[in-house]
Amino acid sequence: MSTQHVATDFANWLARWDAQQQRHIPDREERFTAMVDALAAFAGPEPRVLDLGCGPGSLSARVLDRLPGASVVAIDADPVLLAIGRGALGARTGLTFVDADLRGDWVASLPSPGSYDAAVSTTALHWLGLEQLLQLYHVLAGVLRPGGVFLDGDRLDFDHDQRAIAAGARQVRPEWPDAPEGAEDYDAWWAAAVAEPGLTGEVAERARRWQTHPHEDEAHSYEFHRSALFSAGFAEAGTVWQHLANRVLISIR
Ligand SMILES: C[S@@+](CC[C@H](N)C(=O)[O-])C[C@H]1O[C@@H](n2cnc3c(N)ncnc32)[C@H](O)[C@@H]1O
Repeated sequence: MSTQHVATDFANWLARWDAQQQRHIPDREERFTAMVDALAAFAGPEPRVLDLGCGPGSLSARVLDRLPGASVVAIDADPVLLAIGRGALGARTGLTFVDADLRGDWVASLPSPGSYDAAVSTTALHWLGLEQLLQLYHVLAGVLRPGGVFLDGDRLDFDHDQRAIAAGARQVRPEWPDAPEGAEDYDAWWAAAVAEPGLTGEVAERARRWQTHPHEDEAHSYEFHRSALFSAGFAEAGTVWQHLANRVLISIR
């Protein structure tokens, strides 16, 4: 009996990733567009960019679609998502995936030293605890050039004195809406990825790493992010796009 090797369709895994993320974050593409608009405006046509917690590279790809002269270092610690990103997008000019943990010395893993013109991140930094986020911003301040820009698209919660506003916002739309009946959601996507024969090694490595990586999901407030950025040495911090608590925070080094 012969066993047939079926090549893993990484482009399809990336498309399914984007589809399930979009179901839980209905304005994800609008937020991507706002981020890339701001990146082009603040960092010019050929920026050196870091994508922090890149997953399979969705935002990195959109940056390069819009700014073909950019170079993007896409950083993540999940071997499954990195394998999908490399398989689907690895041939793209200007894109380098780096396997590194944002809680550790990720700068040592960068393919070339600073300074970078920009850092972007989506739906990722809420994984970090408050101390870890403070530390990340300090490190980032040392990697970005003066005048460089940081753009974070994520749920950045209303502050502690805005409880009624936060509750009202959740009535307008839940923070993480369920996928429609029958559509693949985040959990179903992961169940399928874990069963993918072409990802067996990465799935095992992920299980090993994730034992030490709890999902903090602290939903740090927008004001916490601003304070943390100022204490790290950033000069300005504000908002360039927002729908309820879903925002694009911008900060200038
Ligand atoms: C919901 S995904 C978002 C991925 C991508 N930015 C997107 O918008 O599709 C969150 C990402 O953050 C990454 N992440 C979480 N904690 C991390 C850490 N400590 N170091 C590196 N990446 C991390 C996860 O591995 C995952 O890829």
